[in-house]
Amino acid sequence: MTAKANLDIHAIPEEGTTSSHLPSGRWPHHDMLDLDNCRRPDIEVVLTLADRMREILDRRIPRVPALRGYTIVNLFYEPSTRTRVSFELAGKVLGADIISVSTNTSSVVKGESLIDTVRTLRAMRSDAVVMRHPMAGAPYLAAQHTDASIINAGDGAHAHPTQALLDLYTMHRSIGDIAGKKIVMVGDIAHSRVARSDLWGLTTMGAHVVVCGPPTLLALGMRVSDRPSHAENALPPVTIETNIDQAIEDADVVMALRLQSERQEGGLLPSLHEYATHYQVTAERLARAKPDHLLMHPGPKNEGIEIAADVAGGSHSIIEDQVTNGVAVRMALLYLLSGRIEPEEVTELST
Ligand code: NCD
Repeated sequence: MTAKANLDIHAIPEEGTTSSHLPSGRWPHHDMLDLDNCRRPDIEVVLTLADRMREILDRRIPRVPALRGYTIVNLFYEPSTRTRVSFELAGKVLGADIISVSTNTSSVVKGESLIDTVRTLRAMRSDAVVMRHPMAGAPYLAAQHTDASIINAGDGAHAHPTQALLDLYTMHRSIGDIAGKKIVMVGDIAHSRVARSDLWGLTTMGAHVVVCGPPTLLALGMRVSDRPSHAENALPPVTIETNIDQAIEDADVVMALRLQSERQEGGLLPSLHEYATHYQVTAERLARAKPDHLLMHPGPKNEGIEIAADVAGGSHSIIEDQVTNGVAVRMALLYLLSGRIEPEEVTELST
């Protein structure tokens, strides 16, 4: 059976628009490590395919055999609820076998190296490894030692590309093309891998990005030492604003970010109370944004600190949509990385 028939997506009317296409018909990535090397057409294919995956996900029985016989291992060296479950569900909806390894009950506690672990998983014929690791660059190292596809589900403070893709998709579903839109990220930018990957994705798609937070949490242009080939790559240009009221003025989208206290050294903030007083995203502050603004948060939220509970659950919030869309986006990505998608189908998705 062809991948097309498996997915049964051709009866679905095409939604969304794309402005460019991949002439070769091939999606050019074997791994998904970050969005810094994803061009606009690559991202557009993911967004268009995610629309179709969302339709499958919303069926009464959300199961298709597109990835039957494909084996995915979730290898998480850090805690996770939504990302791990989201990948598990994405794999299951597409009929893949997906196994979640918790590193505190695996041979990692016996001192096995990351390289040995990924080689062992490949020897068992794993096709893809979804990896979360506290060290920036760890998935890049893994990718050099296996021909399984490596998907970065968060490496230290460096990158979280699937979160960025789901954020882009959620914006795309709600407001269409984000080119020229004002997207404001508020919070601990310095320690946020979500912010970094979002910056690449949002600027590639032409958005005007504003980052806002106390100066101690705005260390932009940070370089990742264990990625020599990218050592010259500063982050893409954004507007930096330490005053939240000015940052939010006329925003199309406001995204609140958690204080990544597990990655912060001491002394960056006087107190949580003071942080909340100056930087909490509240209804009063959001009144300065566009009347139809959207409110996002990658989760997990600390309500009462970076975001007020009433706005998190309010009418502008699309935080739960982000979670649902995360499954659809990861389905799209797994399918693309599997190589089972036909080149003609990629062309069709990108035109
Ligand atoms: C984020 C992460 O782990 O980087 N969460 C997520 O994956 N949705 C953000 C966070 O931990 O604050």
